[in-house]
Amino acid sequence: MKDLLRQRVAVQDSIIKKLNNQVKLEAQASAAYLSMAAWCDQHSYDHSAKFFYQQSSEEREHMMKLFHYISDMGGIAVSPAIAATQNEFSSLREVFETALENEIHVTESINQIVAECRKASDFATENFMQWFVKEQVEEEFVVRRILEYFEMLGEDPKSLLLIDERVNSVTYE
Ligand SMILES: [Fe+2]
Repeated sequence: MKDLLRQRVAVQDSIIKKLNNQVKLEAQASAAYLSMAAWCDQHSYDHSAKFFYQQSSEEREHMMKLFHYISDMGGIAVSPAIAATQNEFSSLREVFETALENEIHVTESINQIVAECRKASDFATENFMQWFVKEQVEEEFVVRRILEYFEMLGEDPKSLLLIDERVNSVTYE
């Protein structure tokens, strides 16, 4: 029975470590989006502010999803330290460009975890991580589409207002 119980700790230490690193990245993303929301609020981009508040909440949910998985698998989930986030931006476009850079970084990290799981034949964690793979496709799509608006419409005050009004209607099907 003791051996059977031990088998419940199914995830390798090296993967637990990577999952904890992902917890930190999601927490960092949540904090970064909060700063972006504050900047948008300050500059009267109300819809973009709403978008980033929402993103910030979602990133915290991602963090908690990973956190619980680590614990459920018998690992020790680590509440991460968060570094200071960028809170000054030169334009609304720069805010979204920074968001896209963050998302690309998160996607790379998730892909590395999936690759590691495959190498270790940890199919349970790989399966768990597929939700994040899918989520990243969506996150990147939405921010890229918003950045296309800047290309199409330019950045004069009226265009910025128009772009701001559209950010929450971009969806990935
Ligand atoms: Fe995330």
